[in-house]
Amino acid sequence: MTDSVMPTYGRLNVSFVKGEGAWLTDSNGQRYLDALSGIAVCNLGHCHPRVTAAIQDQASQLIHTSNVYRIPLQEQLADKLVEISGMEQVFFCNSGAEANEAAIKLVRKFGHAKGVSKPVIIVMDGSFHGRTMATLTATGNAKVQAGFDPLVPGFVRVPYNDLDALRMAIGHWPEAVAVMLEPVQGEGGIKVPDSDYLASVRSICTQRKLLMILDEVQTGIGRTGKWFAFQHAQDVIPDVMTLAKGLGNGMPIGACLVAGSAVGLFQPGNHGSTFGGNPLACRAALAVLQTIETEKLMDNVNTLGEQMFQAFKKRLDQHEGVKEVRHAGFMFGIELAVPCGELVGLALEKGLLINVTSEKVIRLLPPLIINEAEAMQIVDQLSDLVTEFLSTRTVVSVA
Ligand SMILES: Cc1ncc(COP(=O)(O)O)c(C=O)c1O
Repeated sequence: MTDSVMPTYGRLNVSFVKGEGAWLTDSNGQRYLDALSGIAVCNLGHCHPRVTAAIQDQASQLIHTSNVYRIPLQEQLADKLVEISGMEQVFFCNSGAEANEAAIKLVRKFGHAKGVSKPVIIVMDGSFHGRTMATLTATGNAKVQAGFDPLVPGFVRVPYNDLDALRMAIGHWPEAVAVMLEPVQGEGGIKVPDSDYLASVRSICTQRKLLMILDEVQTGIGRTGKWFAFQHAQDVIPDVMTLAKGLGNGMPIGACLVAGSAVGLFQPGNHGSTFGGNPLACRAALAVLQTIETEKLMDNVNTLGEQMFQAFKKRLDQHEGVKEVRHAGFMFGIELAVPCGELVGLALEKGLLINVTSEKVIRLLPPLIINEAEAMQIVDQLSDLVTEFLSTRTVVSVA
């Protein structure tokens, strides 16, 4: 491995040279079943023929112009996102952190327009919003923030899934202008809030005239079995929603969508992005959205998601080393009683790609295109591994 790349990641010593559907092949010809999708990015699997064809065709016509000109594919993509989300307008960028930066700037502008000179955004414990200065400040994880003081002012934190704490914080902070949260916490360990939580946050925000920012960077684009996770809740439309990851299936693209009182806050000169919403990225994203519809992939998520969840529960729930199995569509979290980071390497040796987050939570984000056999292979292989792993843990801890 070269020293020329900054060591910002603890990388596994494997490199992939080809992908097809839910499968990756490494440089030695070994095949792996991908239950992570590049962390919720390659939702249609690797090199989906429709997306590949769209990218190839667009690359041969026009890749980039500039946002100083009209970009018809960007307009088409914005129209489509508005149609499927119920939001009203879209700003395009290149990543989740950038989408959240846009959201943070927007709600500060909302605050200033209301006469709040130092607007405050209420954020959540255990959240993840990105690695830029404002988004790492919004992130509820001390490890992400360590070493980067001074952080950005204007954020206060409350426990996730705790409405009383939220109401109390709003009471304490008259400068509060927005609440920012994930509908399901991804990096935080696949934390699924109570079923009425989002609707209650929505009504608190409406009553207190705060904007509701939903970070759907990980949950969006069909991953939970609806286009967006908020669509599982009754009567919830956020004021601001951010997207990235699955939107381009690997082509970098992010988006910040607005509705209601958040519309019209950005005017020319307030925000921008050189690459954001270029023809190539937008063409890929349009192909992604069309494919999810045509192939009815959200039905697949709903059916197989429940099947996998039940199968995991059957195999693992009784085990005393397993604290909880959680899921929202194709987001699975298996929380163990012990740290389990080494499971990632053990699974890799068996040809299965998984992730561990928050030290003790096995996280699976399989591509939405997997079939039943692949789904059950993930369940069986991982359940065997977890059982084996926990038996060695018990031996070690007893000794
Ligand atoms: C919920 C959420 N928001 C934001 C981000 C940051 O996205 P990006 O890495 O594209 O900047 C992530 C990435 O994991 C995420 O899960």
